[in-house]
Amino acid sequence: MKKLDGIIKKHQQKKGSLIGLLQDITEELGYLPEKTLEEVSEKLRVPLSHLYGLATFYASFRLEPMGKHHCSICVGTACHVRGASRVVEAVERELDIKAGETTPDGKFTVETVNCLGACALGPLIVIDDEYYGNMDGGKAIKLLKKYED
Ligand code: FES
Repeated sequence: MKKLDGIIKKHQQKKGSLIGLLQDITEELGYLPEKTLEEVSEKLRVPLSHLYGLATFYASFRLEPMGKHHCSICVGTACHVRGASRVVEAVERELDIKAGETTPDGKFTVETVNCLGACALGPLIVIDDEYYGNMDGGKAIKLLKKYED
């Protein structure tokens, strides 16, 4: 990838700019592919394990591509007390994945988040930037069906 060379060059001179470099790659590709991390490791002579350490420590980095639809389920305090964990369970069961994963067909990536800033609407799900409040397990499953095609 030609752009990768440009990104590496941009960060090569600066000490301690590995996070910035990983951010730039994420911005470009949407995630951090294994092959790309190997290339960065070789070109910058940085241990691959160090790159993986950074990529897994910071929640903003992903090692897998995002699904077509991004589903965030709020598990912050206000949503939690109103049953957010049952919403998470229902979604995980329906899609047969765990929060943090993408379905094998690439349709959904599900994540839990701590507060989406609309606590009065909780339990809350955001799919592709659309907010859906007062969720329960059944409503969440119906909602996912809307996004299945
Ligand atoms: S706790 Fe869920 S939106 Fe704030």
